[in-house]
Amino acid sequence: MLIKLCDNLQNAIEEVADALTQRMQTLLRGNDSSGSAVISMTPQFKPANDTASVRGEERVLEAMRYSALSGGKRLRPFLTICSAGLFGVSMDSAIETASAIEFIHTYSLIHDDLPAMDNDDLRRGKPTCHVQFGEAAAILAGDGLLTYAFQVLSNSKVHADPAVRCELISALAQASGCWGMVGGQMMDIQAENKQLSVEEIIRLQRLKTGELFAVSCEAGAILGKAPGMMRNLLRAYAHDMGLAFQITDDLLDAEGTRTQTGKGVRKDKIKGKATLVSVLGVDRARDHAQLLVKQAISHLDVFDKKADNLRALAQYVVSRKG
Ligand code: IPE
Ligand code: IPE
Ligand code: MG
Ligand code: MG
Ligand code: MG
Repeated sequence: MLIKLCDNLQNAIEEVADALTQRMQTLLRGNDSSGSAVISMTPQFKPANDTASVRGEERVLEAMRYSALSGGKRLRPFLTICSAGLFGVSMDSAIETASAIEFIHTYSLIHDDLPAMDNDDLRRGKPTCHVQFGEAAAILAGDGLLTYAFQVLSNSKVHADPAVRCELISALAQASGCWGMVGGQMMDIQAENKQLSVEEIIRLQRLKTGELFAVSCEAGAILGKAPGMMRNLLRAYAHDMGLAFQITDDLLDAEGTRTQTGKGVRKDKIKGKATLVSVLGVDRARDHAQLLVKQAISHLDVFDKKADNLRALAQYVVSRKG
């Protein structure tokens, strides 16, 4: 089945979110999930006399499901599916890959909310994972999602060619780890109550947010064995769009409400976070986000109308209210 793109962006995002949630539900069903090719690769234990270990598995899966299936805008999966659509990749491959990326994103949110990090109590309109399940279970739920993402990507359902799967695993590991999101999160924590230059903040945000956006787009090109030039254009688009997205997140923190965003607000000011909003002020930060959107869209010229959803998404990320 080829990916069908809707005319209307909102419908397209919802369609992707529904398909993704369905697949993630199956993937997170637990060790009786014979429907999941990934989990059925795992040895099936039947510890009739050892129910404690079963409860342990179930508990961490429950926390993983709680966070992963609790809504969210699903923007990174949308990027993967749109970019895969540019190269005629099947919906099944794209959804499987997008699920792995969303697992990583959800893990990053669970850990970002922990008391040792941003110490937040609300996420996607619900109590954060550690508030609901306790800190240890939340740490383990994050670990579980992170590792499961790579297990999912290693399965032939993602792509028949093992070299493609290997490339995806490598790109996602790099984008998520110390040269990507994890490194950016460390910089974000270290920068609290420090004066950073605009260039330093851009680098921080490129790592903590931009890299995962970039690999989400690049994944479609990897699945489609696209030429390097196209991969680079998609990465450039996603980097500019990801920065515009993070500026908007910071603007919503400064100006939005808990109801709108489904998470705490004014946290950045309280914690002394280094953001472009704190350095440039609200108006200049908003203008800069608009500029980045134009720049992001300019990287897509080579893709003609096929990339219209990606163009519309770039406009959407700066106009969103939640
Ligand atoms: C929140 O990302 C974390 C940031 C990088 C700012 P999203 O705003 O995409 O979170 P969900 O997935 O929609 O909840
Ligand atoms: C988090 O940025 C980025 C991640 C890598 C998770 P924020 O700390 O600003 O995200 P929110 O505002 O808590 O969603
Ligand atoms: Mg944070
Ligand atoms: Mg946070
Ligand atoms: Mg934020």
